[in-house]
Amino acid sequence: MPEGVRISDLKIIRDGKTIIPDLTMYIDRGKIVGLLGPSGSGKTTIMRSIVGVQAIAAGSITVFGREAGSKVLRTRIGYFTQSASIYTDLTCLENLRYFARILGQSEISVHEVLELVDLTKNKKQLASSLSGGERARLALATALLGRPELLILDEPTVGLDPVLRRDLWNLFHKLADQGKTLLISSHVMDEADRCDSLFLLRDGRILAGGTPQELKDQANTDEMEAVFISLVEQL
Ligand SMILES: Nc1ncnc2c1ncn2[C@@H]1O[C@H](COP(=O)(O)OP(=O)(O)OP(=O)(O)O)[C@@H](O)[C@H]1O
Ligand SMILES: [Mg+2]
Repeated sequence: MPEGVRISDLKIIRDGKTIIPDLTMYIDRGKIVGLLGPSGSGKTTIMRSIVGVQAIAAGSITVFGREAGSKVLRTRIGYFTQSASIYTDLTCLENLRYFARILGQSEISVHEVLELVDLTKNKKQLASSLSGGERARLALATALLGRPELLILDEPTVGLDPVLRRDLWNLFHKLADQGKTLLISSHVMDEADRCDSLFLLRDGRILAGGTPQELKDQANTDEMEAVFISLVEQL
């Protein structure tokens, strides 16, 4: 199996504060990996460092064997940020054409991602008139331009109702089945069950990692929420 994402002895300091003291983790290719933890635990910071936009104080991060931030990785990684940037005064098609131009992607890729997120029928609609879920899918589509092999999705389902969340998770599994690697952050524990494997994070440290079932077995419970609480109580 070719290399996935490897983080070794990562240390991150922001504004004089140590956010990530010493992090080591490995993300397998073709898997959906969840990064779960409460607000402020460092999820976004870790994602930024994998994308290569976060200054690091120590340690190393490689993506597919290349140093994070390398130019060669630019089109191989799709990043969906918490402040997903779509232009509400543009249509779906116009939004995607705009981002495609920045990324040097073709018109074909625009139509490909529209199809993938099931927005082809909405392509002429202004983003301002989209429903919450449609807007989330449009934002996701921008991260899918250029067929990245690694998708870094920072809380992509936040604010969506359960049906829309399920639809998005179906899409994530479809992408993983195509061989893509997905790192998805959430602070909603019930989403953990939909991941192939998980890292539970707190104060910039990994409390535990494994498949949802392994973590439940370790904590002797059937509920993901209880797993997290029991880990915190063991500290
Ligand atoms: N630019 C910054 N300067 C200083 N501290 C920062 C900066 N950005 C984030 N932090 C701090 O780093 C810690 C981790 O933040 P991060 O955004 O990675 O958390 P998160 O797990 O993504 O949280 P959330 O679930 O709220 O998105 C927090 O304590 C935050 O206050
Ligand atoms: Mg965050």
